[in-house]
Amino acid sequence: MAEQVAWTAMADGTREDYEFLSGLYEGHARACLTDSLFDLLARMEGPTLGYRVDRAEHSRQSATRALRNGEPDELVVAALFHDVGDVVAPHNHSAIAAEILAPYVSEETTWVIRHHGLFQGYYYFHHLGGDRDARDRYQESPFFERCAWFCQEYDQNCFDPDYDSLTDADFRPLVEAVFSRQSRLGADWELDQA
Ligand SMILES: [Fe+2]
Ligand SMILES: [Fe+2]
Repeated sequence: MAEQVAWTAMADGTREDYEFLSGLYEGHARACLTDSLFDLLARMEGPTLGYRVDRAEHSRQSATRALRNGEPDELVVAALFHDVGDVVAPHNHSAIAAEILAPYVSEETTWVIRHHGLFQGYYYFHHLGGDRDARDRYQESPFFERCAWFCQEYDQNCFDPDYDSLTDADFRPLVEAVFSRQSRLGADWELDQA
């Protein structure tokens, strides 16, 4: 097998080519994932945007509180990255973080992160003319209380400049462990068969 495929159009590829490419892709993706996520977190350092901490500190504080509260590793990691979608999708940041986490964490944790933006609105939507109870549309969800808890304990209260948050280095082993898990969702080609 050559180190590169011979073609320039995917339509010309063979099974052998795609098995070769999939192996390279998976290895590369897994090797880079942790660093890429911490890079996103670092992109939120600096501007506090009027709050008393920047968004990276907010995220580390969220994860630290979750860890110290004895939450499962995957929730700690989810807390650490719950706002990284801000960097590339400021108007739908919750969905971005949820999709990043989805293959490696439970349905519950994915749901909590996917809906945290709306649930967080309980604390401020009414000040902007919105409905603070907008989250109530999900009252029937088995994950409603968990999401409300997440926002109460690990999000709305994580803007304290005096809190002694853990560092990225402290979290790295947990992040690597969670993102080394077998994908719960499978690869793209498997998803398309569902
Ligand atoms: Fe958020
Ligand atoms: Fe947040």
